[in-house]
Amino acid sequence: MAPPPPPPPPSHEAGRAYDLLGTEIAGYRLESEIGRGGMAVVYRARDLRLDRTVALKLLAPGLARNDTFRQRFTYESRVAAAIDHPHIVPVFEAGETDGVLYIAMRFVAGQDLRVLIDRRGPLPHTTAIRIAGQVASALDAAHDHDLVHRDVKPGNILVAAGTDSDHPEHVYLTDFGLTKKSLSLTGFTTVGQFVGTLDYVAPEQISGRPVDGRCDVYSLACVVHETLTGAPPFRRDDDMALLWAHQYDAPPPLSAERPGLPAELDGVLAKALAKSPQDRYASCLRFVAALRAAAAGTGPDTHRPTRVGAGPVSPAAVEPPPPPPRWALPVFSQRESPPS
Ligand SMILES: Nc1ncnc2c1ncn2[C@@H]1O[C@H](COP(=O)(O)OP(=O)(O)OP(=O)(O)O)[C@@H](O)[C@H]1O
Ligand SMILES: [Mg+2]
Repeated sequence: MAPPPPPPPPSHEAGRAYDLLGTEIAGYRLESEIGRGGMAVVYRARDLRLDRTVALKLLAPGLARNDTFRQRFTYESRVAAAIDHPHIVPVFEAGETDGVLYIAMRFVAGQDLRVLIDRRGPLPHTTAIRIAGQVASALDAAHDHDLVHRDVKPGNILVAAGTDSDHPEHVYLTDFGLTKKSLSLTGFTTVGQFVGTLDYVAPEQISGRPVDGRCDVYSLACVVHETLTGAPPFRRDDDMALLWAHQYDAPPPLSAERPGLPAELDGVLAKALAKSPQDRYASCLRFVAALRAAAAGTGPDTHRPTRVGAGPVSPAAVEPPPPPPRWALPVFSQRESPPS
């Protein structure tokens, strides 16, 4: 007798997600849906091997059929999993089961920055800069591993409770390499497929030029603009006009959209949003350092770094040592004459 046909692969397309609650996928039992984006659904799930809660992201089945996406997903999930950083969501496992790509990661109890801005409106600039600083440290760490995020946006920034009043929030960056934009802009998606937001995309991503960490500087600057004003720098009625604005229009100064912010922030945002990567800050942390200095009114050059082993120092710059105490004079007189 022929064996029974295999069960159909799990479906998590819109409207059917509730079918999956309680089911087991790759050793994880799906407990509740956390949220969904344009190409994935994220569940709170139980890791049955280790008996712990995780966030399990199931990517839309079509993506597994796209070889380029699958290869990049596998590669970038591996690299992201290898980066051990306090502000990058730890990835536990990434793989494919029944034609569905999945990624298991730490469950972050909190809200993403998208929800936070939608609920609370613009955040105080001290909070905005604190959040940006944590995202910046995660991005620079990724860049040190030659990994460019490419999709920095409020929905990929998870904000959990911090440890104390000095650290009121702990921020995690997620979703390395899972960008729909790059798929659509390079022609992988079918015409008319939902592409997701283009509010944070850097000019060089749009024109298909090679990208490096400075495209994340641009996107982070768009996020900072939104955190401070409630809206990203460019808002247009249709996608074409928005892409044009990223490429050619000057961003509006923050101070025009939210009076009362330190005026020096305008120049910092303008530099981070420069059309050409070489005109931007060289790293995300430098961008945030400039934000901090502008907000504190100290300007970019007033902080003189401590010199540690910084090479030869001119003799004129060295002050003469104080005279030795009386009890030490015999020792000094044996070596050299004590200073008069
Ligand atoms: N590790 C996690 N812990 C808790 N919640 C998470 C985690 N990862 C993602 N989420 C939540 O799941 C929701 C869906 O995430 P997803 O990445 O699919 O969508 P998105 O980033 O909002 O949009 P897009 O598809 O455009 O990237 C988000 O609202 C996010 O807050
Ligand atoms: Mg996301």
